Amino acid sequence: MKEIRIGILGFGTVGAGVVEGIHKNGGLMASRTGINPVVAKIADLDITTDRGITVDEGVLTTDAMSVITDSTIDLIVELIGGTTIARTFTLEALKQGKPVITANKALLADHGEEIYRTARENKTGIYYEAAVGGGIPILRSQRAGLIGNQIESIYGILNGTCNYILTRMEREGLPFDEILADAQALGYAETPPDLDIDGIDTAHKAVVLASMAYGAPVPMEACPTKGIRGLSGQEISNASELGYCIKLLGIIKDNAGEVELSVEPALVPKTHMIASVDDAFNAVFVKGDLVDDTMYYGRGAGRMPTASAVIGDIMEAAADQLHGVGTPVSVTMMFQKSELKYCSPANIEKRCYIRLGLKDEAGAMARVTDIFGTHNISMASVVQKELHESGAVPVMMLTQTAKESDYVAAMVEIQALDVCVSEPIRMRLEDFE
Ligand code: HSE
Repeated sequence: MKEIRIGILGFGTVGAGVVEGIHKNGGLMASRTGINPVVAKIADLDITTDRGITVDEGVLTTDAMSVITDSTIDLIVELIGGTTIARTFTLEALKQGKPVITANKALLADHGEEIYRTARENKTGIYYEAAVGGGIPILRSQRAGLIGNQIESIYGILNGTCNYILTRMEREGLPFDEILADAQALGYAETPPDLDIDGIDTAHKAVVLASMAYGAPVPMEACPTKGIRGLSGQEISNASELGYCIKLLGIIKDNAGEVELSVEPALVPKTHMIASVDDAFNAVFVKGDLVDDTMYYGRGAGRMPTASAVIGDIMEAAADQLHGVGTPVSVTMMFQKSELKYCSPANIEKRCYIRLGLKDEAGAMARVTDIFGTHNISMASVVQKELHESGAVPVMMLTQTAKESDYVAAMVEIQALDVCVSEPIRMRLEDFE
């Protein structure tokens, strides 16, 4: 039996979960792998708060650097979060030749290139399964099970907080703010929750997925991002009437050799599997050229699901190290290119849901449809209600596939019409065709 000595930086929710998981199942892991995981050191600025976990005397310290430089520690688990000291400690551990396991999607999204390069230069590994999809082993699936595939598209529900809010808005018709407070109380949300509701947390995860799918670090600037702030219950009930629900999606596609990437709320057919992903669950829908459609589902947040992914990485890093695999390139080998070509947002072709508020007068609808026709936008469905809201007739439209630049031009003209009396709403519709 070989022993692997682990140094954990950050004894918060996930850090304590990792220790709990190893205490509970360490024997099982050892019997399966021949490697006994030992939590040798835990560094945190606060070592007095009771985390509900008993650790041996001398394990806790406030000095993270002493853990990183301790020659008896084999690998480092970074669970501090943020992109400042977490970056410093991660780079330092890699420079010491120690594998680093992290759940820190923001760190990878903002400094991935530097971190992957430092790992490679120091012939060690960076492992980050927990950074995307919490407990779902999606990255391992991508770089092992799907390694033979050209990835055609990935659609991810990657933020538990947003999915929880959208699910309850649809199911219970409750206001956004009330549900957000519940999500925070349940421990799903980031601090501050703006990262969740503005789509940034989803974008962090989407760029990590896109990096792995297409072979080069992807900068956050390549991912146009829109969250669910301000999304009204009206849109959710309109979508529902039309046979759709609204999900915050990370969308990644191979668009004729260019990477199409975005985070946005989108209508998805209620009949599609991804529409059934409710509450704080995450799912990643991946289409490969050989495998066709696959979907991965599970808890994307929370103490023990995230700890499960971290522990999986600890055991993989330990195996790489102890079995003399050499440079544990399993992650960085995915990066064959230095940069990728990205699809210009203006050229992206998509279907849309559009809601207009029109004056109730003859010819109003004709003027709108005329503008859409001029810009090559064909209607798949149009619903006008006889209901008057502040003098406006609500009109819902679902379009056929058209180019983003055409939508933009058409919406400018429609908004300028005297019959258009409220701010138009436009959202992507994704039918997975
Ligand atoms: N705040 C994140 C979520 C946690 O709601 O999914 C996991 O990254």
